[in-house]
Amino acid sequence: MDQKENLPQFSVLPRHVGIIMDGNGRWAQKRGLPRYKGHIEGARTFRKIGEFAGNLGIECLTFYAFSTENWKRPPEEVAAIMDLFREYLRELDDRKAENEEKGIKVNFIGDRTGIPKDILRMMGYSERITRKKDHVILNIAINYGGRQEILHSVQTLAKQVEKGKLKAKDITEDMISENLYTGGLPDPDLIIRPSGEYRLSNFLLWQSAYSEFWYSDILWPDFTEADFVEALRDFERRNRRFGGV
Ligand code: FPP
Repeated sequence: MDQKENLPQFSVLPRHVGIIMDGNGRWAQKRGLPRYKGHIEGARTFRKIGEFAGNLGIECLTFYAFSTENWKRPPEEVAAIMDLFREYLRELDDRKAENEEKGIKVNFIGDRTGIPKDILRMMGYSERITRKKDHVILNIAINYGGRQEILHSVQTLAKQVEKGKLKAKDITEDMISENLYTGGLPDPDLIIRPSGEYRLSNFLLWQSAYSEFWYSDILWPDFTEADFVEALRDFERRNRRFGGV
């Protein structure tokens, strides 16, 4: 399915797809494995679906990799996830020529405080070397929380009010959007959550006001290209009214 000539065609594609990569822990537990093994498989699925979505022509993808609440997990699980980020960031560097050809821009969204320094350095490097690209925008949410993001945006605007550069009554929705970590990007048209949970879990709260949702019982490590196509086929049939008739 990853061969470009065999790709399915769609009458309408979402411009921006958000994915909550859930179910890694249960996938591992079902097999009697430690939870981190589920994250290793989840990271493989992330690479596979990211590549497939890019080949289909989806402009922007946002993967929820680590939330502001995930620090509460056992330290060995957090460390294992951080190691997966390191591995992926090294891979981005190794594959920079290939990614450049594909026009991939990598963006990390979330609060940068608390992230290990070596990871922060590699994140900054990947962003710098891909910043001029715009064929596929790959957002990876790390230490991300939707409420924290809105707070950050509002505080940025409040500082301008304090300095007398902006009046509180002149603050617009667009200004709040622009000052989110996703500023300048389209809102997600489709949000996918596997693993049988029907929650947003603090993901893209502001941006998802008019997003279509697609849920499934499949655990993220088992999620395939065919499942992604099914979500897109479902999206194709949705009648989006944005509050109109
Ligand atoms: C949620 O499943 C998943 C996470 C909190 C971590 C997701 C991280 C990855 C897939 C690795 C990402 C790697 C890269 C390179 C971006 P869960 O553990 O909450 O599953 P459960 O609900 O079954 O316990």
